[in-house]
Amino acid sequence: MPDRYPPINPKCPHFLHGGDYNPDQWPEEIWAEDMRLMKLAHCNAMTVGIFAWARLEPAEGQFDFSWLDTIMDLLAENDAYGVLATPSAARPAWMSHKYPEVLRVRSDGTRIRHGGRHNHCPSSPVYREKTALINRKLAERYGDHPALLVWHISNEYSGECHCELCRDAFRAWLMRKYETLDALNHAWWTAFWSHTFTDWSQVNPPGPLGQRHIHGLNLDWKRFTTDQCLDFMLAEIAPLREVAPDVPVTTNMMGTYPGLNYWKLAPHLDVISWDNYPQWHGPQPDAELACRIAFVHDINRSLKGGKPFMLMESTPSMTNWMAVAKLKRPGMHLLASLQAVAHGSDTVQYFQWRKSRGGSEKFHGAVVDHLGTEGNRVFRDVAELGVALEKLDDVVGTTVRPDAAIIYDWENSWAINDAAGPRREGKDYLPPCQRHYRELWRRGIPCDVIDMDQPLDGYKLVVAPMLYMVRPGVAERLTAFVEGGGTLVTTYWSGIVDENDLCFLGGFPGPLRGLLGIWDEEIDALYPDDRVHVSPEPGNGLRLKGFYEARELCALIHAETAQVLATYGDDFYAGRPALTANRVGEGSAYYVASRNDDRFLSDFYAAFARVLGLLRAVDASLPAGVSAALRTDGERRFVFLMNFNPQRVTVDLVGAAFTDLLTGEPVGDPIGLDAYAVMVLTDT
Ligand code: GLA
Ligand code: ZN
Repeated sequence: MPDRYPPINPKCPHFLHGGDYNPDQWPEEIWAEDMRLMKLAHCNAMTVGIFAWARLEPAEGQFDFSWLDTIMDLLAENDAYGVLATPSAARPAWMSHKYPEVLRVRSDGTRIRHGGRHNHCPSSPVYREKTALINRKLAERYGDHPALLVWHISNEYSGECHCELCRDAFRAWLMRKYETLDALNHAWWTAFWSHTFTDWSQVNPPGPLGQRHIHGLNLDWKRFTTDQCLDFMLAEIAPLREVAPDVPVTTNMMGTYPGLNYWKLAPHLDVISWDNYPQWHGPQPDAELACRIAFVHDINRSLKGGKPFMLMESTPSMTNWMAVAKLKRPGMHLLASLQAVAHGSDTVQYFQWRKSRGGSEKFHGAVVDHLGTEGNRVFRDVAELGVALEKLDDVVGTTVRPDAAIIYDWENSWAINDAAGPRREGKDYLPPCQRHYRELWRRGIPCDVIDMDQPLDGYKLVVAPMLYMVRPGVAERLTAFVEGGGTLVTTYWSGIVDENDLCFLGGFPGPLRGLLGIWDEEIDALYPDDRVHVSPEPGNGLRLKGFYEARELCALIHAETAQVLATYGDDFYAGRPALTANRVGEGSAYYVASRNDDRFLSDFYAAFARVLGLLRAVDASLPAGVSAALRTDGERRFVFLMNFNPQRVTVDLVGAAFTDLLTGEPVGDPIGLDAYAVMVLTDT
């Protein structure tokens, strides 16, 4: 694994700064003005063509690239680059009209009409053919263009299609996977409610009018939906790679969007990108939100093993689709943008460059407002960021190799959400993962966020909250990790089902039982106001003391080979183990039996930070709401110090001597950080 990656495209060894640019929606007279403004905004990359199919192919087989030729040339003449999109995210009306099969069918069987976007059938041979053709033409025309930097495949792939083509493809996918109906019936446990299938033609996608309760079917449908999207994406990419093999390919993802398992898409992309729209200044304190966003940035960096990603979309000011479209407060634009950079992005891009005059997004934030000039606050904020990014060339391509990783797994999340029990409300999976992550984040401890199939070498600490599903091979890899000296943390509701959502027999946590040294006999679900005390054992080795509170879920376990570090203090299970550690080989596997309060998590992870000596971005004491993130090339450190508080704070750097790359000035110690301020520090 390199310490410094090459730039996304060696043509441009700088941060990319820019946005979705839709000149096709505007008269040609303002294109030159766009170029002038682009320079003033210190933007160097425009994402073009995303929703331009009707302009590129106004009638079947009649192509018009003249306007795009002009735009690509203009970008090149102005020392800027094009992130060129394939247009499949929305299609021309003539196509839907002539070939209704390109339109998606909903789970109730109705075919949608033409309109909207993001709603094609991924199986339709016609849509694949039309997409491959336009993509090939784009590649032939622009593959060598000096402005072309990255292919942007479609836009935010999402959703699913229940048409007959997709249904048949699903059946074929199942036949390949299971080979026999007996194998499928067993995996799906179809004897339950007499759901046994006796012919492949009886199997349909799940939906409200039909099968909803076969969990294995639900899981396989989601897996198929990802695979079918991937297959469509690969069909889109094929002509691009054939004609222009050196141009990197990405598709813009949506964070923890549950509909697609992004880990399956990642290996086929050259660079990861995602669209980030946090609800700053909303109901949740900004510092809490910042932590959740950091988690998602870290997923995106981890998706390709630490390779820098692209922040493909963000808003320069507000969105138009949130319940309340609050403006970013002064400072927040720079802070939120550099937060992405801090966690590994080599770009800051927006939706969008010029605010639409009409259509449903005419009030969405954009760099160039309806005002049409550089004279407004948002434009100045964007330009300020552009200037900052120009000072950070040395950061491009750097990454971080954390000591810690959290497992957040899409299939596990599907299975947990589908489970009926042990509680209907507040089962949660993502929030507990983020609560564990928070304890690392607020200490400035870099962390990867991976799925359960990723390699664990190099980590000292792996945290796998609620590892409900354990796929084949995972227990073995976790065991090898611990035997080799690693520390594993897992929690209540782990080791419950296999990859088909069938419960492990013979005692939970199933294949993790030997590793954790416990038997999980039952799980208690608590009402919202219920609390159960957790009391650490004296001399527990983690310096846990006093009482902690558990809520919502308490597993009732027996320590088999594990050592008991804390016990429950209440109810009929008072005295039973609440926290255990099992020594295996050179390492230890911890089991946190209950959903505990933040104070517990804080003390617990403080112990690991100390005992394992986990890598920190900076050896400073960070006030609440301040985060520190690290990028490095293995030698030089870049420390991003970010204040997500609406007030000034002071950070004690414990004597370290740093220069702020944004000002070029040495920084004092302690240093003051204004409300929403960010600094990029490098060793002096
Ligand atoms: C998504 C889309 C964009 C735009 C923005 C608005 O991310 O990809 O085209 O609609 O949302 O926030
Ligand atoms: Zn379909």
